Amino acid sequence: MPTKPNTEAGADSLAAVLCNVDAARTYRAGLEGTVALIPTMGALHDGHLEHIRVCRGLADHVLVSIFVNPTQFTQGEDYQRYPRSLEVDIRKCAEAGATGVFTPNAEELYPPGQLDIEIDSPALTGGLEGRDRPGHFQGVCRVVVKLLNILQPDIVSFGRKDYQQLRVVQAVVADLMMPVRVIEVPTVREADGLAMSSRNVRLDAEQRRRGLGLYKALMAAKRLVEQDGETDPKAVEQAMCAVLQSHQVEIGYAAVRHPQTLSELECVEPALTGGVVALVAGDVGAVRLIDNMLLGSGDR
Ligand code: PAJ
Repeated sequence: MPTKPNTEAGADSLAAVLCNVDAARTYRAGLEGTVALIPTMGALHDGHLEHIRVCRGLADHVLVSIFVNPTQFTQGEDYQRYPRSLEVDIRKCAEAGATGVFTPNAEELYPPGQLDIEIDSPALTGGLEGRDRPGHFQGVCRVVVKLLNILQPDIVSFGRKDYQQLRVVQAVVADLMMPVRVIEVPTVREADGLAMSSRNVRLDAEQRRRGLGLYKALMAAKRLVEQDGETDPKAVEQAMCAVLQSHQVEIGYAAVRHPQTLSELECVEPALTGGVVALVAGDVGAVRLIDNMLLGSGDR
């Protein structure tokens, strides 16, 4: 059966819900005009839906992939507990104006017995998330290349929310000369500033309050650099750590980096680099949260 009949709740306005690779390839081959792909792991929120809205303005067809990718979860991480809500997700995609959804299964994307392939950009993946989650970006790269090869979109969108992921994917696409344009979508936040994330549903009220510490840490960094003229990266990082600690966030990292290479900086000089990026990560209970902000660029 090439495609699931569109009988899922709310899927009526989607042209297709594609559940396997052959169906997806056949469907893609029949599309005329330009195609945008939004890779996701589901549990869709307004941040994801913003990608659909942006892509609708850029391409004739907007495909959303929904796949909780096992290879990007490291040992002991929340692969099993990762929120899953496929039917609701499909309805949200339709309502936001996507034209198709691709929901492959893990056995098909990773056939048992097939040799592993590693795609990496070590200069970009060695630190930050890559240091705390060894193997994570290799898993992301692998699934993203698979999705791009299956669906062959003209455009693929990634969120600035996962800043290091965005830069890694851009590097892979450039180096492997993949014929796709990567667009970046700014971070969508809750009214109080918390970055939207599929993992936020796992926070209770108290943890939700603590989680806001990430945004507050980034705002403190922004004030220090943009208003007080602080140029010492260590001073900015310490200020962020202090805010995270005061919110009982178990700190993964609080770093100020070059916005393209993610390399460490000797001096925070937004005027010279065209903006620097502050990145934070930490655990609130069992939930890992990440966020970032461009400093010296009007990002909020
Ligand atoms: P997921 O966390 O579901 O995110 C899918 C896309 O939505 C990513 O590009 C992410 O950066 C973006 N996104 C998440 N929260 C956002 C927010 N608050 N505002 C704007 N965009 C946001 O990232 C992944 O899945 C996976 O690693 C994936 C790329 C799909 C590979 O498995």
